[in-house]
Amino acid sequence: MAFTYFFRDMQTLELIHKDVLPVIRGHRYIDIWDAGCAHGPEPYSIAIILREKMSRMLFRNVRIYATDIDTSDQFGQTISDGVYPEGEIKRIPGEIRRKYFTKADEPNNYRLIDEIKSRVSFVKHDLLSLEPVRTGFSLIVCKNVLLHFNRQQRVDVIRMFHSTLRQGGFLLTEQTQKLPPEAKELFQQATPEAQVFGKLEVCSEMRI
Ligand SMILES: C[S@@+](CC[C@H](N)C(=O)[O-])C[C@H]1O[C@@H](n2cnc3c(N)ncnc32)[C@H](O)[C@@H]1O
Repeated sequence: MAFTYFFRDMQTLELIHKDVLPVIRGHRYIDIWDAGCAHGPEPYSIAIILREKMSRMLFRNVRIYATDIDTSDQFGQTISDGVYPEGEIKRIPGEIRRKYFTKADEPNNYRLIDEIKSRVSFVKHDLLSLEPVRTGFSLIVCKNVLLHFNRQQRVDVIRMFHSTLRQGGFLLTEQTQKLPPEAKELFQQATPEAQVFGKLEVCSEMRI
């Protein structure tokens, strides 16, 4: 099982509602790509964070496309079930846990409520294919994945992210992931507090 957990790196995730949401909430649909989502704690944390800041009505416009290469072939099932053992959800603040999880039939397991589950769908996908799952994303979250790639692969994947983001969209990576110089004309850092980047428009001759 890939290393991940609910509400990992809250400092960065909270910037989604502080710096990103005010811009993207005007989009008709808030399409988010969580690339390298493992078995679901990250996309579900994002969904919960957004629901906390959005009305029920507006939250219905959120669609999180969670993808992973998923060599175990188990992530899709886990994400669509939305059931996690007690040990995996214990870091979540009690108030949030009680609001968004109910006891599952399996002992010591908890199920996400449908309102959260319905916003997240999983597709098995290899980032190195450089084929986006779709286009027009408002936000791409890719944390603790790019570090597994070599430099050229990282540049290629970041270029692909740029081309699949809509105008005014954002890319979010982990704190330690600096953008390579080759990608500097594609994004600008949106906040000094974290690796949150706003898409820059580039003229067609510059696109490679
Ligand atoms: C350390 S986990 C990160 C999970 C989550 N993003 C987080 O930060 O908690 C890395 C994930 O990247 C996925 N991954 C590795 N290579 C990939 C590729 N080429 N395409 C898509 N996902 C990949 C792994 O399967 C794993 O689930």
